[in-house]
Amino acid sequence: MKAYVIGEGSGLEALTLVERDVPKPGPGEILVRMKANSINYRDLLTIKNAGARGITDQRIPNSDGAGIVEALGEGVTHYQAGDRVVGCFFQDWVSGPITEKTMMSALGGPIDGVLAEYVVLKEQGVLPIPESLSFEQAATLPCAAVTAWNCLIEKGEANAGDIALLLGTGGVSIFAQQIAKFCGIQTIVTSSSDEKLERVKKLGASTLINYRDQPDWENAVLEATNGKGVDVVIEVGGAGTLAKSVEAVRIGGTVSLVGVLTGGTIDPTSIMRKSVKLQGIYVGPQDMFAKLIRAIDYNELNPVIEETVAFDNAKDAYRLMESGQHFGKIVIAFS
Ligand SMILES: NC(=O)c1ccc[n+]([C@@H]2O[C@H](COP(=O)([O-])OP(=O)(O)OC[C@H]3O[C@@H](n4cnc5c(N)ncnc54)[C@H](OP(=O)(O)O)[C@@H]3O)[C@@H](O)[C@H]2O)c1
Repeated sequence: MKAYVIGEGSGLEALTLVERDVPKPGPGEILVRMKANSINYRDLLTIKNAGARGITDQRIPNSDGAGIVEALGEGVTHYQAGDRVVGCFFQDWVSGPITEKTMMSALGGPIDGVLAEYVVLKEQGVLPIPESLSFEQAATLPCAAVTAWNCLIEKGEANAGDIALLLGTGGVSIFAQQIAKFCGIQTIVTSSSDEKLERVKKLGASTLINYRDQPDWENAVLEATNGKGVDVVIEVGGAGTLAKSVEAVRIGGTVSLVGVLTGGTIDPTSIMRKSVKLQGIYVGPQDMFAKLIRAIDYNELNPVIEETVAFDNAKDAYRLMESGQHFGKIVIAFS
């Protein structure tokens, strides 16, 4: 079978197409014939500098994939050959709080990922794809959509009528917009592009701010909320935007911290004075993903896919992400 591996060299050139044996499922495992992957900023960073993540041997990248069950290992009871399944980001995090052990089961990081024609996944590490979603759509969900749901609804505890601040228009933020819409949560969205702001307005965003034209965008957020601030921020920017996000959140509000897009420093005084809840989030467990799939199916959420790239041209997907031109998700389709 064909598979991409990383681990030697740096930059996108490190991504190499190789021939490997089709893996065999062991007890409690299933063999999945991949139909689609989606990519995340984390996959781009991992490919460009695998060494920084402690990857020294050849590793298959990507966490997010969907496909067809091809064969079953001993003792598998919930699936049969031909079922359509999507992989979970963490193969060992079924429910409850995250632990060091479950963190080590992240696909395309500490263990092989899904950018290969055949992949072995754990029975507990996949979920059925509802009829309403294609393989490409299902493949967009495991990382970005689960993270958005966790940031906004689970750890973010946002309710109908609350206001959320979403930074940028990448995979996590666009899923947060779509989830907010069906949960009745208002959104304020920032972007570097007026054209992208127009697109997110069509998805239901109520206030739009161009963070390039308005570098002090936290003031625009306060103005839009009558000086009060938002209930929750989905913080994808990281250290470079965190101080502004803390200014933009209300007293006692939540900042869900997920991103590493920008560098910088932060004075923690405002976090303390405003009693802000600063919550680190790392995707989410399988039972949260199952709940999200039900909500997506029921609400007919249509994942926003900017472009679908063929498996043989996979590098083009990461080049597009690197350019920052995309809106929502980028998919790699297998022939
Ligand atoms: N902790 C977790 O579990 C978790 C899970 C998923 C993602 N993440 C992290 O979350 C971040 C976003 O991931 P993603 O996959 O959604 O990435 P993505 O699809 O590449 O989206 C990135 C977007 O962020 C926006 N952006 C860049 N710099 C910005 C800035 N200074 N201020 C505001 N927005 C900015 C840009 O939007 P515009 O083009 O509109 O300006 C860009 O398109 C990454 O750091 C990723 O590692 C963490």
